[in-house]
Amino acid sequence: MQKNSVRQPRPENVKGEFYVDHTCIDCDTCRWIAPDFYGRVGSKSAMTAQPQTDEERILSFQALLSCPTYSIHSSGSKADLKAAVDRYPEPVKGAEGVYYCGYNSEKSYGGSAWLVVREGGNVMIDSPRFDPKLVKRVKALGGVKYIFLTHRDDVADHAMWAEEFGAQRIIHASECNSQQGTDKCEIKLEGEGPWNFPGGADDLEIIHTPGHTFGHCVLLHKPSQALFSGDHLAFSRDPPGQLRIFKDYNWYSVPKQVDSVRILLNYDFLYVLPGHGRPRRMRDAAHRLQLINDLLEHEGAL
Ligand code: SF4
Ligand SMILES: [Fe+2]
Repeated sequence: MQKNSVRQPRPENVKGEFYVDHTCIDCDTCRWIAPDFYGRVGSKSAMTAQPQTDEERILSFQALLSCPTYSIHSSGSKADLKAAVDRYPEPVKGAEGVYYCGYNSEKSYGGSAWLVVREGGNVMIDSPRFDPKLVKRVKALGGVKYIFLTHRDDVADHAMWAEEFGAQRIIHASECNSQQGTDKCEIKLEGEGPWNFPGGADDLEIIHTPGHTFGHCVLLHKPSQALFSGDHLAFSRDPPGQLRIFKDYNWYSVPKQVDSVRILLNYDFLYVLPGHGRPRRMRDAAHRLQLINDLLEHEGAL
């Protein structure tokens, strides 16, 4: 394929205002944001239906804004695009104070980033693309006091976000390096914890979850019962609705990662908001225990 033709529509798209080009990296983001319009056809995404109403177009534009590789294009109305811009960061339904940032970054392999708006200062979890449109919206929500980086893979534009808001970055010391600039992070966690969240806050708890990487940590926001799970665990595409670890993308130890899943049996959360994989709310504590036990059984660890 010639270089400029990679930006042409994939033939798999249903024709219309929106299309996905050949540069899609199959990150799944558009498909969980707007599953009625984006689907996996072959090994990449395509429009499986075209949006018909303004609301459907806005949702399709939200997927476009969050595509890490700018692989989605549209001839749709500017007003609908503007409405999509105004929706990010988007509240996670039912989880008070918790937002999905959108604008996934290719530097984080398409990972999602999250924002907690709280009295003790807002916390960004992992880093979205540093886009002026998003910066403006985050500013309107009170800016960012802390940036919690779950591990080294999903740090994207952390330095720009930290500089813009004078935020303090929190990351495990073993995840830091000079290539990504994480050696400059303000708060480095040493050892295995437990650690207090800076500012003596008791609404947030940092949990060391070694496995995907040695220094991987997740963050629990207790008031909303949201677990920011990084690349530790997420809901799978297939089978849908199951909690899974991604063993093909393990950079330290699968057995340790499974052990770190077991640790989560001690915590009370209903939302799993990951870097990669699908975010979802579980029904209740019994559902959470069942899903974690299913994962452990799947890994032969029960
Ligand atoms: S968000 Fe972009 S890269 Fe990810 S699956 Fe959709 S089109 Fe592909
Ligand atoms: Fe990762």
